[in-house]
Amino acid sequence: MKPEIPLFDLNWDDGEERAALEVIRNGWVSMGPKTEEYEKALAGFYGVRYALATSSGTAALLLAYLSLDLKGYDVILPSLTFVATANALVFAGARPVFADIHDPLLPLISAETVERVLTPRTKAVVFVNYAGYGDTLSDLRDLCRDKGLVLIEDASHAHGALYPGGMAGTLGKVGAFSTFANKNLSTGEGGYLITDDPETYRKARLLRSHGMTSSSWERLRGKEEMYDVVDVGLNLRPSEIQAAIGLANLKKLKGENLKRRHLVSLYRRLIAEEVPDVEVPFPEDSPSAYYVLPVLLPPGADRSAVRKRMLEMGVYTSVHYPPIHRFSVYDTGVSLPNTEEYSRRTLTLPLWGNMGEDRVHRVVEALRKALSRSYPG
Ligand SMILES: Cc1ncc(COP(=O)(O)O)c(C=O)c1O
Repeated sequence: MKPEIPLFDLNWDDGEERAALEVIRNGWVSMGPKTEEYEKALAGFYGVRYALATSSGTAALLLAYLSLDLKGYDVILPSLTFVATANALVFAGARPVFADIHDPLLPLISAETVERVLTPRTKAVVFVNYAGYGDTLSDLRDLCRDKGLVLIEDASHAHGALYPGGMAGTLGKVGAFSTFANKNLSTGEGGYLITDDPETYRKARLLRSHGMTSSSWERLRGKEEMYDVVDVGLNLRPSEIQAAIGLANLKKLKGENLKRRHLVSLYRRLIAEEVPDVEVPFPEDSPSAYYVLPVLLPPGADRSAVRKRMLEMGVYTSVHYPPIHRFSVYDTGVSLPNTEEYSRRTLTLPLWGNMGEDRVHRVVEALRKALSRSYPG
């Protein structure tokens, strides 16, 4: 059954359709001039020197990690993230070390929680702008500077978020983003990384395409007759169709984030009025891209039952995230009490820019009914 209110919906329209069609009609569909145009637009949007488009967010993370030479080192990251943040680290030869979130109401790793798990082998910290927020980022940045650690942002949730210290993704050495279907900036599958560091960019660009010194498009344009292979890379390239859709969708990003901000403040007001024992993490006035709206159910609430009841009322929900340190392949027995409590109690409510106020009212009403003891069945 397709829920009446899904978790998110695409904001694509004839802009994206025309962009994709143009590429299909002109006949060059693998990485080429549209990708370059998309990268220029991204670099301009973030005010950085370099942007590199990739086939996925996982690819952007892998390229960031590989170009920073993390092999053999410990790298600190949250357990409260999508597993790609950790998987790409393992593929890059690093050992993931999980830090706890600061607090269930501030579900981000912080200078304090990172300091607790530092080892002499720690080389880098990956900050995940969970749900779009970056409240602990400036303290973490100071810690990384003091300890000589590389700061990387997995800013997949935070396209276009503007924090006091700058835009999400620009506060560390590299920012990596996913443009998977449900992200604020969406190309279906895709990703990009941004950096001001020429060496990181050079290496990431090389490894994106097998360590080859030129691409098919560049050779066609007469850049080189033959290529050399100067490093061992992979095919992590985007297609021109992804890049064209990204260019069209990027134009909507600021507006999309503003609409989401408005809906989140409505959610907060209604939740405080209708279901006051449900908590909404993060301070109300914190800047964010508002990627998802996670809430904390009262301790002891049966989340599965609540989700099932909400679905019966046509409202789909999700959980961001089951903690990585409890997945079989990553479970080394460490305990992260705040992450564990958060993951047990959190519930993600539907959110997308064009959702409309009426649906927000209906979601909160469904949540109220699903939590009430008198709910039938
Ligand atoms: C925080 C985070 N990191 C990485 C990824 C991986 O991105 P992709 O699915 O585009 O490979 C995602 C995707 O959902 C994500 O949410």
